Amino acid sequence: MASLSLSAILLAITSPLLLFFSHCQAAQSSTAPGPSSTPVNLTGILDKGGQFTEFIRLLATTQAEDQIENQINTSTEGMTVFAPTDNAFNNLKSGALNGLSDQEQVQLVLYHILPKFYSLASLQTVSNPVRTQATGQDGVWGLNFTSQGTQVNVSTGVVETQLNNALRQEFPLAVYEVDKVLLPEELYGTKAPAPAAPSPKRSTSNSSSSTTTKSHSEGPSASEQSNGGGKVTSVLWGGGVGLALICVGFLS
Ligand SMILES: *[C@@H]1O[C@H](CO)[C@@H](O)[C@H](O)[C@H]1NC(C)=O
Ligand SMILES: *[C@@H]1O[C@H](CO)[C@@H](O)[C@H](O)[C@H]1NC(C)=O
Ligand SMILES: *[C@@H]1O[C@H](CO)[C@@H](O)[C@H](O)[C@H]1NC(C)=O
Ligand SMILES: *[C@@H]1O[C@H](CO)[C@@H](O)[C@H](O)[C@H]1NC(C)=O
Ligand SMILES: *[C@@H]1O[C@H](CO)[C@@H](O)[C@H](O)[C@H]1NC(C)=O
Repeated sequence: MASLSLSAILLAITSPLLLFFSHCQAAQSSTAPGPSSTPVNLTGILDKGGQFTEFIRLLATTQAEDQIENQINTSTEGMTVFAPTDNAFNNLKSGALNGLSDQEQVQLVLYHILPKFYSLASLQTVSNPVRTQATGQDGVWGLNFTSQGTQVNVSTGVVETQLNNALRQEFPLAVYEVDKVLLPEELYGTKAPAPAAPSPKRSTSNSSSSTTTKSHSEGPSASEQSNGGGKVTSVLWGGGVGLALICVGFLS
């Protein structure tokens, strides 16, 4: 009896440990073959960086992500991506991003992508301006690169920043961290005040919609009150009958 309960206790203690170890093994074996067999995963690279949640979100909402993955697969030139940190997005003026139309947000994201693989060394000698993926009917959306020793800067004409950290620098995909969102002159140069215009319109439509929901909610609450009144009378009725029965019992 004693030995039985002892083994039961041992089992109770060890089984979570066994589960834990087998879990670790599974995690190890699943990560080990990962990097070698899977194709290039831009989101995965950014995810590992840990400070690119806004850029990841934009890549998904603008569907630039699918385009990039497709192109990495099919292009012989490779690609280069400049990934702004969450800090870079936080430092934008309020409305700088939300003031853009959907189409302009796509263009902003594509402006951070070059349709060719560039190592840092090759960016030092590239001829300016370098065409981005946003280049199209609206003209050449270019980036300029300047270097001093091994330090490379990228300039849009609106902002200039250093290429600090290569998250990946291996054909077919190069990914460089940037501390500023690369704001194209085409969107933020001369017609900068334009994107701010739609925001007051939105807030007025918001307030009007909130008043309609208010008057809606007044309807049900009024009917609830009348229901409540019904309940009160029935409770009074019940109480009266109960009291009468008690009185009858007391008397008899
Ligand atoms: C790429 O990485 C992300 C985040 O780590 C992951 O959610 C996604 O499933 C990966 N995609 C592929 C095709 O491996
Ligand atoms: C890219 O190619 C790999 C195999 O070479 C394939 O598994 C993957 O689905 C392709 N991705 C896209 C987006 O076409
Ligand atoms: C790069 O930009 C920084 C400011 O961000 C500036 O101090 C530096 O001189 C620039 N370097 C080159 C090579 O243009
Ligand atoms: C980029 O470089 C080209 C050629 O040097 C120059 O004509 C252009 O003005 C530059 N643009 C910006 C935004 O610095
Ligand atoms: C506007 O309304 C939406 C929902 O319709 C809400 O999520 C948002 O916070 C509102 N904005 C303001 C400024 O009230």
